[in-house]
Amino acid sequence: MFKKLAISTALSLALIPAAVVAAGGGEQHIEDFDFSFEGPFGVYDQNQLQRGLHVYTDLCAACHGLKYVPLRTLADEGGPELPMDQVRAYAENIDVFDPELDDYRSATPVDHFPANDGVGAPDLSVMAKARAGFHGPYGLGINQMFKGMGGPEYIASILTGYTGHEKEEAGTTLYENTAFPGGWIAMQPPIEDESIDFMDGHANDLHHIAEDVSAFLMWTAEPKMMARKQVGFIGVLMLAILSVLLYLTNKRIWAPLKGKKIKQS
Ligand code: HEC
Repeated sequence: MFKKLAISTALSLALIPAAVVAAGGGEQHIEDFDFSFEGPFGVYDQNQLQRGLHVYTDLCAACHGLKYVPLRTLADEGGPELPMDQVRAYAENIDVFDPELDDYRSATPVDHFPANDGVGAPDLSVMAKARAGFHGPYGLGINQMFKGMGGPEYIASILTGYTGHEKEEAGTTLYENTAFPGGWIAMQPPIEDESIDFMDGHANDLHHIAEDVSAFLMWTAEPKMMARKQVGFIGVLMLAILSVLLYLTNKRIWAPLKGKKIKQS
């Protein structure tokens, strides 16, 4: 009986990896980028978010939108922290449709980033939380416990994952990409080395530009990450104090009985 059970358990364990690989199709490769906001004390790097905004504006906004992100939050603490006059200037360069005027006007900080579904590109507001880069092993999510969900890693890996091969399918050009599920994406490679000249003179190879815009998209998806971590930390601290108090209380409650036991022996 036991032997049979052991054999079937061993067999099914051996079969799981095969099944998962078969279901996954092409091997999806997600690179583990090191972001400043990882870990319990990680914070957004304000300069990186500003560079990411620059990249988004110049290289992504032509096709994508950020319709859930209010422009004024660019000035928020813990975000890109642009001075308000720069936020106003940034907004002025954006045209938004105003239903009350029934016409376009330039945006103000209370408006949102524009939506953009002209070419069928998905909105990027919460993309960094809608996608997971890390799953395994074997779909158990254990990797996520150590590395996080991997949304920004997924985005950065897509941006750097082009192999250079393309093919036509039903009139659309598809580009081979090692990070995109299925291996072929309809987005042409949006970034090359030196696509952007950063004002702070930061490295502008493909890898760095991809990392910066992915960090920016993590911020749009979770602008209050810092506050959440802080609350979490205070929670852990309070629980730690409570544990110590409970331990001491427990000792005190049992002290008379434990004392007796020592006398008896
Ligand atoms: C020329 C238009 C165009 C530009 C420019 C562009 N994209 Fe895309 N993007 C697309 C299209 C179209 C899709 C949908 C691709 C698909 O589903 O095959 C897409 C999809 C995506 C996805 C989603 C992948 C998924 O899992 O669904 C991400 C993330 C993304 N783009 C990020 C970016 C970033 C970041 C930039 C700027 C650096 C950018 N894109 C620039 C057209 C564009």
